[in-house]
Amino acid sequence: MCPRRLGARPLSSPALNLLRGTLVLLLLLPPCCLASSRGLIRPGAVWRDQQGRPIQAHGGGILYDHHTWYWFGEDRTQGLDPALRYVSCYSSRDLVHWKFRGRPLQLADPEHLGPHWVLERPKVFYSPLTHRFVMYVHLDDARYKLARVATAVSDRVTGPYKYVRSFRPLGLESRDIGQFVDDDGSAYLIFESRPSGGFYIAQLSPDRLSVVKAVAFIHTSLEGGALVHDHGLYYVMGSHLTGWRPNPNVYATAAQLSGPWSEFREVAPDVPDTYGSQSSMLLKVHGTDKTAVIFLGDIWKPRSLWDSRYLWMPLQMRDGRMVLPSPAPWSIDVKTGVTHVYPDSSPSQ
Ligand code: GAL
Repeated sequence: MCPRRLGARPLSSPALNLLRGTLVLLLLLPPCCLASSRGLIRPGAVWRDQQGRPIQAHGGGILYDHHTWYWFGEDRTQGLDPALRYVSCYSSRDLVHWKFRGRPLQLADPEHLGPHWVLERPKVFYSPLTHRFVMYVHLDDARYKLARVATAVSDRVTGPYKYVRSFRPLGLESRDIGQFVDDDGSAYLIFESRPSGGFYIAQLSPDRLSVVKAVAFIHTSLEGGALVHDHGLYYVMGSHLTGWRPNPNVYATAAQLSGPWSEFREVAPDVPDTYGSQSSMLLKVHGTDKTAVIFLGDIWKPRSLWDSRYLWMPLQMRDGRMVLPSPAPWSIDVKTGVTHVYPDSSPSQ
């Protein structure tokens, strides 16, 4: 018996015209609009989660676990209880679309620091030893005099996290913190220490609950510390100490974490203020074709912190140099590691 061919009727001419029209329209559209259907990261724009709400993950950190990226950050949503501080969590499998996973840490003033106490720059580490997740935050009083980190733990990446304690790492003042996990799995906290006039790269214990030793002290006053290991070279990055105001972020390189470290160079030498942003993390995406290194920065709005934005851009890495290109919408294929920048589209849509 001859099988019936379903749907093989010839198209009527109105349907044909519609098809032709759609094809012509697609050919005429600028690449940015076409690309938006594939998903673009738009630096400086309001970045919405999958429920359509602006992503609240400022001063954030990223943890990669089971093919998923988890983005933790300061949740500055308006109208939350002013007595509490909130860390939010989002997850994504493509770095473009993020699902809100709740607020894994909602903390009441844990050390009696008084009104306007500070919880900033949350970073989450995984311990392969204990299979637990450990969150570090910068904990401070209103005048930033406490200068400690605080830790909280959870058995699940998305929390809830239970407060453990606060301390000064290695007994040293610590304000902005950054996180780094090397290719061999060892984990480091980067922290700025004002009295020493520089910042430390310090190794965490296998259970990630304590800071065990300084691997490097870099004698340059920088905060917003970030670190990446790419093609045999370590790149450390930070911003100068100008509070919320952006400044020219700089980086240095070394073959080993312990140094010697090169002189610092500006990562965005063509502009005075890193395109209005401050470094928060350097994220490496190791694909089948390429390894992308992504600058994750905050565009702070101190008078309306809830409306602070993000500047994420793939860095141009060549011959030991790293350059942050002019912000523009871009895409990433996380399987191949290939990124594509669309410089002609407006960055602030
Ligand atoms: C910045 C720092 C932020 C926040 C701010 C407060 O330098 O990177 O995390 O602490 O100062 O003024």
